[in-house]
Order: sequence, then structure tokens, then C-alpha cells
Amino acid sequence: MKKIIITIDGYSSCGKSTLAKQLARKLNYTYIDSGAMYRAITLYFIQNNVNWSSHEEVVAALKSIHLDFVINSLTGFGEMYLNEENVEHLIREMVVAEKVSEVAAVKEVREFAVSQQQKMGARKGIVMDGRDIGTVVFPHAELKIFMTADIEIRVQRRFKELFEKNKNITIEEVKKNLELRDYIDANREISPLRKADDAIILDNSHLTHEDQLKLVLQWVEDAI
Ligand code: C5P
Repeated sequence: MKKIIITIDGYSSCGKSTLAKQLARKLNYTYIDSGAMYRAITLYFIQNNVNWSSHEEVVAALKSIHLDFVINSLTGFGEMYLNEENVEHLIREMVVAEKVSEVAAVKEVREFAVSQQQKMGARKGIVMDGRDIGTVVFPHAELKIFMTADIEIRVQRRFKELFEKNKNITIEEVKKNLELRDYIDANREISPLRKADDAIILDNSHLTHEDQLKLVLQWVEDAI
């Protein structure tokens, strides 16, 4: 069967990665979490005291960053490696979440990440989620989805996820971080979060995972 590129963009914690993984599994496609790349770059900047307002420091730091997705044989999904170290868990921590949108707004950082993302899509058969995948990374993708969900539902989902790892986290903290990231992502100068004109909107506030997958598989069939 013909392989296509599926892009999933949207606000933070809409369930983009859950849908992307469901699709990748069902279609035998590769799932690529583009947000993990921005998170890994942010982690490197924090660990190495890189001042991301300085063009020179950013350019020099990016030269020392090697990003890679390595498949976890148990889950079948790629995990983020930063300079040969598995950082899949570290990049999900709040210290990274608090800074990632600032770092992702830097032009050189975006160019660095986007060119690698485009190479990953060269052979098609991928599902990539993020903020600018349908608008900038793959403007000619065969199927583009723009996800939304009620803010309160998104906060609850992210809180549940983070609380499992850190019992000190509060709902207010999670809500503040989501709103701030959404604001910066949608209002930055370069590649702001936007629905591509040809993207289909998916509001999954009240959809079960099964219903969502059924619906989107129909869209995939239509796109092939
Ligand atoms: O998807 P996730 O929430 O892990 O992404 C973390 C952050 O990375 C986003 O809030 C956004 O600032 C940035 N990002 C981006 N472009 C993408 C994916 C993520 O700017 N394609």
C-alpha cells in the first residue's frame, strides 16, 4: 500500500502523541516526536549554561549536539538520545518544560531541528507530531491533522502524567505551564503554531481513544 506522511499539530497536551502512536502501530509507520528534539536541545542548553539569546553561543552549542531516535525494542517506539545518552525521561521534567518554548522560538534552533525532521520524512511512512509540521516541515503532507481539546481536559491529562513521576506537582503549576507554552508557541515570530489551511480539525475533548482512531483511519484511507 502507498505510504504517506501524516502530520499532527496542535496545542500542548491535546493527545497528539497518543494518536500518533496509535496510527504508527496500526499502519506500521514510524512515529517521530518533534517536540522531543526541542526538549533535548533545551536540556543541553540548560546543562551547559548556553545563553539562548546569544546568536554566537547558540550556533556554537548546536555544533556539539547530536540527536537521534533509538527504537526501544519493548515499545517499538523511538526514544530521544542526546549525544549518545538516553534522555527520554529527563526531557519530560518541569525544568525543561519551563524553558522549551523560549528555546524553540530561536531561529537557528528551528533550522537545526526542521532540516533533520525533513530528512526523516524522505521515505514517507511516518507520523510526526508537533507545532509546525503541517505548515513548515511537510507542507505537502498527504494528511494533516490539527488537534484541539478543552484546556481543563488538557490540564487534567498532563497533571495525571506528571503526578505519577512527581507527587509534589500541582494542578495550578501544570495549567500555568501549558498556557504559557501555548501562548509563546502561537505568538512567536518564526513558524508559530497555526492550523494549515488544508488540515482537518480534530477536537478530542470527548472522544475515546478507540473512536478517535476509527475516525482518523478513515481519513487515512481517504488520503491514500
Ligand atoms: O510536543 P511537546 O509538548 O513535547 O513540545 C515541547 C515544546 O517544543 C512545545 O511547547 C514547543 O515550544 C516546541 N515545539 C515546537 N515545534 C514543534 C514541536 C515542539 O516549537 N514542531
